[in-house]
Amino acid sequence: MTERTVLITGAATGIGMALAQRLDREGWKVFAGVNRSTPEALVENSSDRLVVIPINVTDRDQIGRALAIVEQAVGERGLDLLIHNAAMTGAPGPLEFVDIDQFKFLMDVNLWGPLRLTQTFLPLLRRSGAARIVNVTSTSVYLTIPLGGAYPISKSAYRALSNHMRMELAPFGIDVTALEPGGVKTPMTGFEEEEERLCWQTIPEGMREEYQRRFEFPAAALSEGFEFESPDSFADKVYRQIVCARKFKPVYVIGKGVAFMPWMHRLLPLTVLERIFKKLFRMKA
Ligand SMILES: NC(=O)c1ccc[n+]([C@@H]2O[C@H](COP(=O)([O-])OP(=O)(O)OC[C@H]3O[C@@H](n4cnc5c(N)ncnc54)[C@H](OP(=O)(O)O)[C@@H]3O)[C@@H](O)[C@H]2O)c1
Repeated sequence: MTERTVLITGAATGIGMALAQRLDREGWKVFAGVNRSTPEALVENSSDRLVVIPINVTDRDQIGRALAIVEQAVGERGLDLLIHNAAMTGAPGPLEFVDIDQFKFLMDVNLWGPLRLTQTFLPLLRRSGAARIVNVTSTSVYLTIPLGGAYPISKSAYRALSNHMRMELAPFGIDVTALEPGGVKTPMTGFEEEEERLCWQTIPEGMREEYQRRFEFPAAALSEGFEFESPDSFADKVYRQIVCARKFKPVYVIGKGVAFMPWMHRLLPLTVLERIFKKLFRMKA
């Protein structure tokens, strides 16, 4: 095999599918990890180089089987690029009542999943000689989202994991970066009334009104407050800025109208940021 090789998780939808197809068009051998289903669009709009592999990032046995499939295809050539794209939202509601089991599952997918996969695929990445890892975190790490803390907390932990991974793997010649997306129109960013219902449902009746008097459900503010671009346009930026980079920067913030977020976070004191978030999320006290 002479092509460069990449494994992308969560490739059945959104950013993952757009990245898989973009890299496929650029001549890469793409291993597309899918969780619950394989949409026809993924296969129909790709070359027959692309290989679809079931990968639930919480399932160690399935990850082991995925390793065997990729290893058989790449052999001694190794794997050049691993893109940890799979993630979920969920565990809605205030920290006072958030379901800790749901929160743990979210961490299992968003934090332990990429670590589990990295540990499994490192021997194959080492064989490449110039391997790279992209950790897809989120610009939500710059926000404090009342009633929606689980997802940004998981991504903040993952951002820290990415920094540590970068330091520990650099001496082995493996380059690691964190990609912080924002404002990409995908199934994850659609405002769902069902999510809002679940959020209020986590709060026991005696306290629900107390919360509703003080907070609005944050997803609507997020949907209205951000501009969105298509996954294809986003994947094009990722390809040009990250995949084609000679050497990775530690972090890439990519997406419509999100470039200011790290600067805002660096320059403003937390008390000022909190006033902005209270206004953005329409807190009433
Ligand atoms: N869109 C944005 O503006 C935005 C902003 C910040 C960060 N991000 C990040 O970008 C990445 C892609 O998200 P997206 O916007 O493209 O959303 P998406 O379309 O919902 O993609 C998430 C993918 O992850 C997969 N997934 C979920 N649980 C999984 C599991 N246990 N094992 C393996 N795969 C699993 C999903 O597959 P199933 O549906 O089959 O479970 C889905 O294909 C995520 O890491 C997300 O946090 C996106």
